Amino acid sequence: MNFNDIYKNKIKFIDDYIKNYLESRYPEVSPVLLDSMKYSVLNGGKRLRSILCIEICKMLDGDINKALPFAAGIEFIHAYSLVHDDLPAMDNSDYRRGQLSCHKKFGEAFGILCGDALLNSAYEIMANNCTTQYQIKAMQCIAKCAGAHGMIDGQIIDLSIADTGIYDEKQFIKLIELKTANLIKAAVVSGVLIAEGSEDTLNEMESFAYNLGLAFQIRDDFEDVTEDDKKISDSPNFVSYFGSDIARKMLNQYYGNSINILKKYKTSQFLCGLLCYLFE
Ligand code: IPE
Ligand code: IPE
Ligand code: MG
Repeated sequence: MNFNDIYKNKIKFIDDYIKNYLESRYPEVSPVLLDSMKYSVLNGGKRLRSILCIEICKMLDGDINKALPFAAGIEFIHAYSLVHDDLPAMDNSDYRRGQLSCHKKFGEAFGILCGDALLNSAYEIMANNCTTQYQIKAMQCIAKCAGAHGMIDGQIIDLSIADTGIYDEKQFIKLIELKTANLIKAAVVSGVLIAEGSEDTLNEMESFAYNLGLAFQIRDDFEDVTEDDKKISDSPNFVSYFGSDIARKMLNQYYGNSINILKKYKTSQFLCGLLCYLFE
């Protein structure tokens, strides 16, 4: 099988798990709520964070069945963050993954509530599958990275910067670290913890996630400026602010750092392939 087919199968594996979980866990809720949750999580998307959690666990010889509920939880958090990010009060985007954004399809109030439901579902599925100290630690890390110490403060800074337009390179990197690299770190670290990896592995994988997270957001900013010759949202964009030469240099640097760390692990072929697919 070539890389694309392997990757497609991995996405399908996660999607089937998530679909089954949502349908069996919430059969009696208002149909519009279940529909909006399924729509927001499953309608397209690369599944980067859930795949990272599972594949890092596998790379370190862990049990992927133990990682799956965490991978799904992280995917719920990611989906909720996008639903809320697209709202008129935030980035005001009508489209997500090439389709109507959640609030455009289901209305603004239902969009907000769908995000709320997904966030709660994330902690429910993880809490119901915490049997070891390692899993509890994973959940603590995810909560910290996705919360006020991480992604949420990143979104606050993103909006403040969009308002004032004042920032420098250092502030910009901090913003990306908070809003994007943190959830990627949560996925990677939980994969390591569920595999019961060593402290050294944990530190190395944190560095991998930091570099990957930075590269990934700069890559996303390139897509935002090239998709349509103009900026799609008012969200601060690394490429339009620093220019494509500097942005390309930074992207290559962070991507290079991340792949070099990964290559040290003999069982990292799929993940190395995934990074090549995303960045090259
Ligand atoms: C989009 O993330 C938001 C960013 C942090 C760049 P992804 O590019 O991973 O979104 P999907 O899940 O593939 O749609
Ligand atoms: C989204 O960042 C990051 C979070 C939802 C935390 P962006 O606003 O840059 O991502 P897109 O371009 O909407 O996917
Ligand atoms: Mg946005």
